[in-house]
Amino acid sequence: MDRKELPSGLRDDKITEETKSLISSLPSHTESQGHKICKYQGCWYYYNALQGVLNFQRGFQPRDTDIILASYPKSGTTWLKALTVALLERSKNHSSDDQHPLLSDNPHEIVPFLEINLYVESSSPVLAKFSSVPRLFSTHMPLHAMQETLKDSPCKIVYVCRNVKDTLVSWWFFRCAIHKIEPDRSILESMFKSFCNGTIYYGPFWDHLLSYWRGSLEDPKHVLFMRYEELKAEPRDQIKRLADFLGCPFTKEEEENGLVQKILDLCSLRNLSGLEVNKTGKRNNLDHKYYFRKGEVGDWKNHLTPEIENKLDMIIKEKLKGSGLKF
Ligand code: A3P
Repeated sequence: MDRKELPSGLRDDKITEETKSLISSLPSHTESQGHKICKYQGCWYYYNALQGVLNFQRGFQPRDTDIILASYPKSGTTWLKALTVALLERSKNHSSDDQHPLLSDNPHEIVPFLEINLYVESSSPVLAKFSSVPRLFSTHMPLHAMQETLKDSPCKIVYVCRNVKDTLVSWWFFRCAIHKIEPDRSILESMFKSFCNGTIYYGPFWDHLLSYWRGSLEDPKHVLFMRYEELKAEPRDQIKRLADFLGCPFTKEEEENGLVQKILDLCSLRNLSGLEVNKTGKRNNLDHKYYFRKGEVGDWKNHLTPEIENKLDMIIKEKLKGSGLKF
């Protein structure tokens, strides 16, 4: 596949001479699909994404009311974005339900990634689109990559995580979809190996998890740690938890009027994936439909061998030991 057809976050055509020189001093690795990644401040990035991280670190100026939605890729980012947008949209009185942004835009269009979309080209992008309060951004960076930039800012960060086995399977399908290839088992196996040794985009997985887990324990007012599995099992409780954290709790009247359920229905995989914008839309070489697949807990059982399962369980148990975080 021609590199130009890949989403820009995976490419290396936006890096400056200064970044090239930095990269030459960093640990680097070529992934099985031939994409280069390098390790910066403990995290592996494709080159354009690294440029975005550097630009963000140099230029982002947080506002007190900002909200940043964070995740490891394929952990429920799209869902978290949709739920947060729906929660915040409650305060805007649309003259008709059809005007809801989620009906005409993909959640990733409404809540772009800092390092993959907004800051790839410059450390001072025009953020005119973010005139409303709060500004809503997203990221796959680990928390420690943002800490210096967000220092002393009371902005809120919501992290969603997912069990590593479903994350791996979801990523396997997604990666094959964006490369327009069949989900071949040899690709799954090579991704599994990369997961295990940490040399994978935004990896190591466990460091990513732990940076937000620890952040949420140290500063629970500003970092909320959520789990995909809990959102699936108890969506009403979890969305209320999210609303409380963001300072926009449901009123008694809203609850009585069924608004909690209305938001969950609007943001359900079935509803979002059936919308025209998500069926046929695309941006930055990425078809919106690839963000929606099965959305199940435990789909890994259909794809992973017992050997892979045991090894991943063992690694995660070992790496998370003593942290209080369990899967
Ligand atoms: P599967 O591949 O297991 O189906 P991300 O949004 O971080 O890219 O994660 C994608 C995963 O979230 C995919 O998982 C996708 O199907 C699932 N997903 C997307 N939208 C969802 C929604 N509204 N509700 C539940 N799961 C959703």
